[in-house]
Order: sequence, then structure tokens, then C-alpha cells
Amino acid sequence: MQKYHPLMSSSDRKIDHSLIDLLAEKVTQEFGRRFGRPATVIVAAPGRVNLIGEHIDYNDGFVLPLALDRYVLIAADRHPAESNRSSIQLFSLEMATSETVQLDQPIEPGNTGWTSYVEGVIAGFVELGATIPGFDAVLGSNLPLGGGLSSSAALEVAMATLVEQLTGKSLERDEKALLCQRAEHRFAGVPCGIMDQFSSVFGIADELMLIDCRSQEIERVPFCSREISVLITNSNVRHELSGGEYAQRRAQCHSSLTKLNQSSWRNVSLDDVERARAALTEPEFRRARHVVSEIQRTIEAALAFRSEDWDAVGKLMYSSHDSLRDDFEVSCYELDILVEIASSIGSAGGVIGSRMTGGGFGGCTVSLVNNEQMESVSALISEQYESKTGITPHCFFSRPARGAHVIRK
Ligand code: GLA
Repeated sequence: MQKYHPLMSSSDRKIDHSLIDLLAEKVTQEFGRRFGRPATVIVAAPGRVNLIGEHIDYNDGFVLPLALDRYVLIAADRHPAESNRSSIQLFSLEMATSETVQLDQPIEPGNTGWTSYVEGVIAGFVELGATIPGFDAVLGSNLPLGGGLSSSAALEVAMATLVEQLTGKSLERDEKALLCQRAEHRFAGVPCGIMDQFSSVFGIADELMLIDCRSQEIERVPFCSREISVLITNSNVRHELSGGEYAQRRAQCHSSLTKLNQSSWRNVSLDDVERARAALTEPEFRRARHVVSEIQRTIEAALAFRSEDWDAVGKLMYSSHDSLRDDFEVSCYELDILVEIASSIGSAGGVIGSRMTGGGFGGCTVSLVNNEQMESVSALISEQYESKTGITPHCFFSRPARGAHVIRK
């Protein structure tokens, strides 16, 4: 576990800035060392954690995420004019690898790994008619990679923000998020919803976003309480099945909705699902029950947040987890253990609520914790999780942070 220290609290804006400043310094230094000239542009895009509303962004539902104060940063500069090179040279600090994207030939899906996200975004801009200049870039991140906190969306959105700067082609923010989502669909082969890219683009400091995934409108939900913090616990497990399982859940939701004879989950009630039970397969029935109940829970949670009814928020988080575990079947042993530990600490010990977050099958849980008990809660969760699973988790606190932005240009 990364030991939590009150001075590292990201609720303190000064500290929040120093985290990103430190990373900015790392990527610019590496850029200078590698390419022998200074970076002229630096951009940042955050990861996200979803408080409630899971697996319903692709089902016309509502989600309630916040942008994390953990970012993917890119430092870049165009190739010097005389070099005449039509390619992009990339270096990733985390992966310690270099990659090249050729710009003088069509960019097609096919590559795997982190460059596929970059290629997807570049291809999206080319389709919009942008001329991409050759450039060098160094990428860095203080967001756990592959931990279900949308590091891939942060990479896509950071790259799109960089391309806007380099080409002068600025997109509307929703257009930019949708371009990044298409990159993920086409180049990474993940048929994701809009939550991750929207959160990374639209994140606002000290606010949650209630995203209506049908209208794509965002309602701001202030999260100014200085008594409550968001704890993210990375189980440090990632089950291999996640890719195919995600697409399968999407397909099951689709076939279930078709059998319910409806075009949107927003028109379906729990009674409708019960009445249609005989016509649905058991998995279709369970997926439907999750979708309909999770939409309702998310609406209720946003209301409870606004009135700071923490008791209600906590109950909704736990029942969301139960539904994801039993009906949507995307949890796993380690995530269940983390939520059980959090719930056994309970409100007396400082935990308001806890649940798995993101796509599932590993990754992270999100918990709301009383500030005064932050240290004891993260220590207890870490100790008990490690003794039950033999795995060391990684805990950190975050406040809602600012979405994608340009640090230097
Ligand atoms: C992944 C996807 C999102 C969303 C979540 C589950 O993070 O990228 O679009 O579907 O899973 O809520």
C-alpha cells in the first residue's frame, strides 16, 4: 500500500498541483534528454472513478463519476521543419518503450498495446480532415495503468488535446470525447460506453458529474464536503477474461431489451422485467434487473449527494455492488473481499459506503470515508485484504479534479 500521509492529501489544492507539476517536470526532462530540444507543448488528461451507475452508460442510463487528480501527461514538439519526417516518435515513461506512427500511409487498426489508442485518435483527426504534422512526444502517468481507472481514456483524451494544439483544429468537448470513444471501439476493440472519455474531458474540480448517457447532458453535482473523501483501492488483480466478457454483457443487454420489446432501458420498469421473465434467458433476466435497478439507484444517489444524506449514499453503493456481483456477474473474489472488509469497518469505523468500480473482473473499489478516519480505514483495508488474499493492494485518496487541459503551449 502507498502509505497515506495527511500532507499528501489531494484535498489540499497545493498538493494536488505539486503531483502534476512533478510529472510535468519528469516528462519535459525526458523529452529534452531524448530529443535534444525543449518540449513546446504539455497537455494533461485525468483518469476517472465512478461512484455509482455501473455498466449502464451503454444502456441509456446515468453515471456519477469524478475525474481523478491523477493524469496522463504528454510533452511534445513538432519535428524541426528541415527534418521533413512524416512520423510520430513516442516514448512512454511507464512502459519504457519507444514507438513510431507513420503518417505517410493510412492508419489502420491492427496494432495492440498502448500505441493503438494513439493511432485511433490520430486516425479520427485525419478523418475530420486535419493535417497531422510529424512530432516527438514523451508520455508519463501517475494514474495506475490497467487498473480500471480509465488510463486508456486518459491517454486518448490527452492525445486528442495535444493534436488540437499541434494542428489548431479544436473540437467541441463532446465531439472530442466521442472521437476518443470511437478510437477505443475501432482500434482497441473495446465497445465501451461514453463515461470514461466524457469524465476525462469534462472533469470539474470539487464536482461530480451526473451524466445522462442518453442525451449526453451533464448535470453538475457539487462535492464540497470537507468531511468526506473518496478512497480508491486497487485490488491489483486483473482477470484475463475482461475483454470478451464486456462485449458479452453488452450483447446480453441488447438481446434482453429486444425481447422486452423496448428501444430504451429508460422506458423499462422492474415490473416489466419480472413480467417478461419467462421470455428471457436467466442471464438476460439478471442483466435486465441490474440495468433497471442501477439506473434508479444512480438517480437516487445524485439526490442523496446533493442533500449530503451519507447514510442513503452508502446503502445505494452497497446495493450497487450486490447487483453487479449477483445479477451482472462482473465482480470477482478479490473485489468482493474488499467491499466486505469496508462494510465490516462500517460507518462507526469511518466507511460510508463501498463498491466495485469500472468494468470489473478485477481493478478497483471506490469507498466514501470520513476524513478523520482516512488513515485507519486505508490501513485496516490493506492489512485485512493482504491477509485474506496474499495480495498487497494500493490505496489512495482523490478529490474531483479538473478535466483535460493544456499545461504549456
Ligand atoms: C468500462 C467502460 C465504460 C463503462 C464501464 C462500466 O470502464 O469503458 O464505458 O461501461 O466499464 O460502467
